[in-house]
Amino acid sequence: MLKRKSNMSLKNSFAGYALALVLTCATLLSAGTTVFAQADQIPTDEQAISNGKALFEDNCTVCHSVHERVVGPALKQVIEENRSLPWIISFVQNSQKVIQSGDKDAVALYNEFNKTEMPSFAFSPEQITSIVAYIKHETENPPVKEVAEVPEGGTGPAVSGGTGVSSEYLTILLVVLLVVLVLILIVLALIVSVLTGYLKKDQQLEEADREIVESKFDLQKLLTNKAFLGFVVFAFTAIVLKTVIDGLFMVGIQQNYQPKQPIAFSHKIHAGQMEIDCNYCHTGVRKSKSANIPSANICMNCHTEIKKDSPEIQKIYAALENDQPIEWVRIHNLPDLAYFNHSQHVKVGEVECQTCHGPIETMDVVYQYADLTMGWCINCHRETELNTEGNDYYTKLVQLHNEHSKEPMKVVDIGGLECAKCHY
Ligand code: HEC
Ligand code: HEC
Ligand code: HEC
Ligand code: HEC
Ligand code: HEC
Ligand code: HEC
Repeated sequence: MLKRKSNMSLKNSFAGYALALVLTCATLLSAGTTVFAQADQIPTDEQAISNGKALFEDNCTVCHSVHERVVGPALKQVIEENRSLPWIISFVQNSQKVIQSGDKDAVALYNEFNKTEMPSFAFSPEQITSIVAYIKHETENPPVKEVAEVPEGGTGPAVSGGTGVSSEYLTILLVVLLVVLVLILIVLALIVSVLTGYLKKDQQLEEADREIVESKFDLQKLLTNKAFLGFVVFAFTAIVLKTVIDGLFMVGIQQNYQPKQPIAFSHKIHAGQMEIDCNYCHTGVRKSKSANIPSANICMNCHTEIKKDSPEIQKIYAALENDQPIEWVRIHNLPDLAYFNHSQHVKVGEVECQTCHGPIETMDVVYQYADLTMGWCINCHRETELNTEGNDYYTKLVQLHNEHSKEPMKVVDIGGLECAKCHY
């Protein structure tokens, strides 16, 4: 009986160490994200942050995002630029007053944003402080969503800022911790073996102790050791959980969306190698809102002769015989609340298809290249010069513009940031 007990206690103390280690690492890991938080006048409690979030979403998201420039600046900037709380409060309560007082920062911002007036908000200092608390919280915990922005997409340079540092950081932290854990376990095992070696020489050991000292390290024992199993399960769960969470945040992000199409139609062959004009198939693109997906009849202009025995081409025949349209899966899709017009961009603006759709002529299967967010539209309107040459409609406007500005006329200057232009 006694033998048993001392055996257990040695095992237990080892188990205790391992468990304590695992727990420490777990706490460290969860603390990793909040390490940055530093105390000052901006509250960090959940109540303030959630109040601020509600206020922000109801009043500010139309023009601001924490991480991206929209109509107004990315508000993480107030944290990064270390704006003082009283300054932010007076700016939100009445930005025009601050600007007119000649405040350098405010005037610079106002000019940077083409003298867009931010509306005044009759909020109390506490309410504004809570919004700042929310902004600070978001700045320090950027959403995982941004990780999904794969580098090949996106055209607006300001849209795809600061991608996924926090998640990468966490993964590295996790791996480092696991390595450290394993190293510590190895060191512990070494210490145990050195100690037993030393004890073996000691002739005056009691019978019970001798048995423990002489017992061999065996794999089976290790595999049935609760602490060891606990550690393996912990590591495994952590990794699986992280993968699942990352996966969940990808849902709903349409960028790079590449569904399988019913017929293996390739833009690489048709638009790339054969250089068929986009307009030949997408007949609406220069004259209407929609580009249009070609009907099977257009395919038949060629495929009555070309490759007519190919099973893929047979699918076109089948569609025509059954009088059924080919069910192409739609890739690009704006929500109903937004209005986008192809002819305005392609014909009037002379924007290349590739600017928005990427290198279509190299794609065997089309995917969504840009993220199609409001910020994406707006950034381009802010940066793109108007194509005014030979367009009588613009002659007068350009004259007026040049009288008070040295900058070239951009889409913003004809109201490209006005809500009603893009929203019904
Ligand atoms: C109609 C658009 C609009 C709305 C709504 C709006 N803002 Fe602004 N905001 C701007 C613009 C534009 C600027 C840039 C300065 C300027 O042009 O006056 C700005 C600037 C700011 C700044 C200064 C940023 C800096 O870098 O220091 C803060 C802070 C701010 N806004 C907070 C808010 C908050 C909080 C709300 C919601 C309660 C809000 N804004 C709602 C348009 C808006
Ligand atoms: C021979 C006809 C043909 C030509 C030429 C062609 N396309 Fe297409 N395009 C299609 C068909 C069919 C589809 C639907 C199937 C698919 O997505 O691959 C499509 C789909 C697309 C889509 C995705 C539409 C969606 O669902 O959101 C884009 C974008 C596109 N084409 C752009 C272009 C551009 C840009 C060019 C010129 C460089 C071009 N296409 C040339 C036939 C054509
Ligand atoms: C201007 C002529 C032309 C038009 C219009 C055209 N194609 Fe093609 N298509 C070709 C040629 C040429 C090939 C290449 C044949 C080869 O590989 O030798 C081809 C190849 C294909 C293939 C690959 C067939 C295989 O088995 O290799 C498919 C699928 C296809 N086209 C579908 C379509 C569809 C769908 C449309 C209508 C949206 C369409 N094509 C419109 C000329 C055309
Ligand atoms: C300024 C950006 C921009 C340019 C330039 C552009 N597109 Fe698009 N395209 C879009 C957007 C945004 C959508 C989604 C529209 C929607 O859902 O209402 C789209 C959708 C499409 C679709 C899907 C079907 C449809 O009728 O809307 C096709 C096909 C397409 N574009 C082809 C083209 C071709 C071909 C060109 C060049 C001649 C072109 N696009 C130029 C932004 C652009
Ligand atoms: C690659 C740059 C680019 C992108 C991206 C872009 N646009 Fe434009 N947009 C333009 C240009 C250039 C014009 C000016 C065309 C002209 O001369 O009328 C324009 C004009 C417009 C106009 C008319 C503005 C006016 O005052 O008459 C609307 C509406 C519009 N775009 C909506 C959108 C929407 C919605 C999106 C996003 C889904 C979008 N645009 C994305 C470049 C872009
Ligand atoms: C150049 C075009 C353009 C302009 C200008 C524009 N928007 Fe948008 N807006 C969009 C597009 C495109 C979407 C859809 C984006 C998406 O699905 O992510 C959108 C989405 C929205 C949404 C829904 C957001 C959501 O998360 O569902 C709101 C609210 C909104 N816009 C308000 C405004 C207001 C207010 C203004 C004026 C200050 C404005 N927009 C100006 C193009 C524009």
